[in-house]
Amino acid sequence: MLPAADVPTYQALFTANPYLPQMARIVRVYKMVKDNHLFTMRFTDSELAQTFQCKPGQFAMVSVPGAGEAPISISSSPSRRGVLEFCVRRVGRVTDALYRLRTNDLVGIRGPYGNGFPVERILGQDLLLVAGGLGMAPLRSLLWYALDNREKFNKVILMYGAKTPADMLFREELVSLVDRVDATCLLTVDADPTGTWKGHIALLPAMFDHVQIDPANTHAAVCGPPVVYKFVLKRLLQLGFSKDRILMSLERRMKCGVGKCGHCSVGYKYTCLHGPIFTYWDAINLPEMV
Ligand SMILES: Cc1cc2nc3c(=O)[nH]c(=O)nc-3n(C[C@H](O)[C@H](O)[C@H](O)COP(=O)(O)OP(=O)(O)OC[C@H]3O[C@@H](n4cnc5c(N)ncnc54)[C@H](O)[C@@H]3O)c2cc1C
Ligand code: FES
Repeated sequence: MLPAADVPTYQALFTANPYLPQMARIVRVYKMVKDNHLFTMRFTDSELAQTFQCKPGQFAMVSVPGAGEAPISISSSPSRRGVLEFCVRRVGRVTDALYRLRTNDLVGIRGPYGNGFPVERILGQDLLLVAGGLGMAPLRSLLWYALDNREKFNKVILMYGAKTPADMLFREELVSLVDRVDATCLLTVDADPTGTWKGHIALLPAMFDHVQIDPANTHAAVCGPPVVYKFVLKRLLQLGFSKDRILMSLERRMKCGVGKCGHCSVGYKYTCLHGPIFTYWDAINLPEMV
């Protein structure tokens, strides 16, 4: 028999409907880049808004009434309470419907889901974040978590690449980090058609030439399109990173988000439960994961 104190938790676990979203209000829509907007949302239940907890790298199922729901990374850091931020690229049915909503409109949010980054393993060590394109969305929560808890990490290094300055997500905020003395922020673009970009103009892997990295004491968090994984992973392995120190945020088509439907399975793992953060070691041992 369960100890009396555990009964409410036990009951809550088995009677709560895992598919029931909580209502949230859109409090801000920031048009960062064409078809890549940052949505700030706040639960209508103010207690939930203040107490909601998640880990960097987790995601939520965001639903638009009448359109459906989609898994979206929580882009804000758990160290900032009250609102949640989602960087959403308009690609299809749900995201299109979300783009038609305005400030004060309601959406559904359920989650947080997924494992998130193993922050506890990185504490006291160096953190290297490498992002390309929309890959900045899940890494941004880890970046701000580390910066807001700066004393808990050793070096914090960000390398972020976009096609052009106009395509760079969170540009103003990241440019403001370049001068920080307690972090290294290397921003690069493949090309600068305007001629006004003051950061690097080079492909993302070239940023490794601008910083000293100690692979034995560093965890690397990587997220981006396939081409980023191809070249960045190669570079990390050449530097001597062990495969379990490389963390990757991987996406699969999802439906339930809670390990029930099987849509996101890869081999014997469910991306929604065992991921979306995998070590490179996990990824190469799962067929079709990378
Ligand atoms: C863990 C996780 C985190 C994510 N985080 C983010 C994030 O932070 N920001 C973000 O913008 N996106 C994120 N995504 C991706 C996002 O969930 C998808 O883009 C989602 O499909 C958008 O829903 P939609 O209804 O707008 O698009 P959909 O209508 O689902 O279409 C999306 C794309 O998939 C294609 N497609 C549709 N159905 C199929 C099918 N059956 N088979 C193959 N292709 C198909 C469409 O043609 C289109 O190109 C994340 C996904 C995961 C799994
Ligand atoms: S999305 Fe249903 S099992 Fe992962």
